[in-house]
Amino acid sequence: MNYPYQITSRADYDNDYKNSVEDPEAFWASVASNFYWRKQWDKVLEWNFEEPSMQWFGGGKLNMTENCLDRHLEFSGDAIAYIFEPNDPTEAVVKYTYRELYNEVCRTANMLKSQGVKRGDRVCIYMGMIPQLSIAMLACARIGAIHSVIFGGFSARSIADRLEDAQANFIITCDGAFRGEKQVFLKNIVDDALELYPHVATVLVYERTFTPIQMKAGRDVYWKDAIIGMEEHCVAEEMDAEDLLFILYTSGSTGKPKGVVHSTAGFMVWVTYTFVNVFQYKQGDVFFCTADIGWITGHSYIVYAPLCAGATTLVFEGIPTWPDAGRFWEVVDKHQANTLYTAPTAIRSLMSHGDHHFDEKNLSSLKVIGTVGEPINEEAWHWYNKNVGKGNCPVVDTWFQTETAGIMITNIAGVTDAIPSWATLPLPGVQPHIVDEKGNESIPNEQGVIAGNLCIKFPWPGILRTTYRNHQLCKENYFSTYPGNYFTGDGCLKDANGNIKITGRVDDVLNVSGHRLGTAEIENAINTHPGVVESAVVGIPHDIKGQSIFAFVICNDKNVAPKAIEATVANAIGALARPDKVLLVNGLPKTRSGKIMRRILRKIAEGKINELGDTSTLIDPSVVDEIIAKNN
Ligand code: WT7
Repeated sequence: MNYPYQITSRADYDNDYKNSVEDPEAFWASVASNFYWRKQWDKVLEWNFEEPSMQWFGGGKLNMTENCLDRHLEFSGDAIAYIFEPNDPTEAVVKYTYRELYNEVCRTANMLKSQGVKRGDRVCIYMGMIPQLSIAMLACARIGAIHSVIFGGFSARSIADRLEDAQANFIITCDGAFRGEKQVFLKNIVDDALELYPHVATVLVYERTFTPIQMKAGRDVYWKDAIIGMEEHCVAEEMDAEDLLFILYTSGSTGKPKGVVHSTAGFMVWVTYTFVNVFQYKQGDVFFCTADIGWITGHSYIVYAPLCAGATTLVFEGIPTWPDAGRFWEVVDKHQANTLYTAPTAIRSLMSHGDHHFDEKNLSSLKVIGTVGEPINEEAWHWYNKNVGKGNCPVVDTWFQTETAGIMITNIAGVTDAIPSWATLPLPGVQPHIVDEKGNESIPNEQGVIAGNLCIKFPWPGILRTTYRNHQLCKENYFSTYPGNYFTGDGCLKDANGNIKITGRVDDVLNVSGHRLGTAEIENAINTHPGVVESAVVGIPHDIKGQSIFAFVICNDKNVAPKAIEATVANAIGALARPDKVLLVNGLPKTRSGKIMRRILRKIAEGKINELGDTSTLIDPSVVDEIIAKNN
């Protein structure tokens, strides 16, 4: 069965795109009419990018989970919603029908209520990749609580900062999480976070690994105890279209992560629309997205969009390389997955393990394969196309951001053409605007190609609404650089046919293995080490990770070891931010106004010392020679 708003041909795409620009309100009203509303909206769109203020489907009333669950019960209650593939391939698979998932979400929602969680409360969720993570999110949405999911790789300090920023007084966690042959001791990390930020009333603990943990009396409660006797029905809260659905923290060029806020109706419509179209999802297909639910890709394309679309989705707990680097292919084969959606860093890593991992794996169920998270290089694209897609699955290169909620620029599987390493065309509703440094529209070269900074000049339903408790920050970060536009922070090229190639961040944001990290954030972490005076972090190209982290650090104590600085960062942010190299130096290249010249540091880190360019504007050009000498 097709969805009424599914694009099925290139002509269809052209037509829908045109309509979405010429009459956005009519276009989105028509898409939104396919969802379940308690009360229809009064006004499709009101917006102003100066404030900024964006309202989609204002006056409408709904509950997200009625769209994800209740709506499917009558005709497809027995369809499979989730297939849980555990970390250990020998452990039993668990399947949830839509009815079972509905019952679990209702029981969990009742449990949250019985523990005192109310509409509007912020609930922090720090769990591994198990169905209960999705169930916890949906239970929040059922009762109108706002979830803030924190990826399991973040440290105690990061959790504490996020708890404080969100003023959350409720945490849902696990004893531990399985990650390949390792375990992450989630509850211990939460305990450490609560030493730093003690203002949390309740910690609910789901047992997954059964490793010994401490339970603090009066604060910590086992999920298995709290759920006893809970009803498997729970009346859904009637939410306003613009009520907050969740907060998700992400890094930017400022020193601290920002709480990106998404609202209910616009998010729902946007992620479901993009899911059904980009992947050309058909009822009954098995969708496999390898992202962690702790990132936006998982929120949108493992939890909310597939469930709204009534899809069957894998929840995969494991990692791509354990027990061996054939694990993804085994999961595809075992569950006959029809779509595989993963990250370039995973593809490059699997490439490096050799092609024998495909032996005896039947990937013929695959119809569409996709990538997300960073630019994909051509070599990885071709390897993925040949070995995974066997040359007959469209490869969708999907560009989006935490702030955009869902996919913005991509080819549509089998409908619009792929170009290796190009994200290609904007989806209906997305109006790119490419500008130079001064904000003027970029001018095409002789081949008709434009290069510049990628902005979006008109709101789409999934646009972020604010940054939590700090609207000014949202305005400054996204809407002030190029007034009248949302600025993405990415650079791009656009060819004469309108195809877009994302070339990477143009701000001080790194992308390490698909994880977004601000250089200022890592520098702040380094500077908490008592022996450090000053630091500068740059990203340099890395074959598998995309970028690696190189830190130049000035210490006032000769005995500080680079390893100690690496550990400081892992403690402050999480292992995902650990620098790959720390170089202790005596000075940093600065301009007369005191600005660190990162361009020079990047070249030194990359070993391109013949390309340093003009160093004459530095206060003390001799520091450059000193740093080069130290780096040898
Ligand atoms: C940044 C957003 C989108 C979900 C995962 C990351 C980069 C993302 C692509 C792509 C080139 C991409 C951009 C973007 N990015 N997808 N297909 N091609 N670059 O979400 O952590 O919010 O990071 O990831 O630089 O701005 P995120």
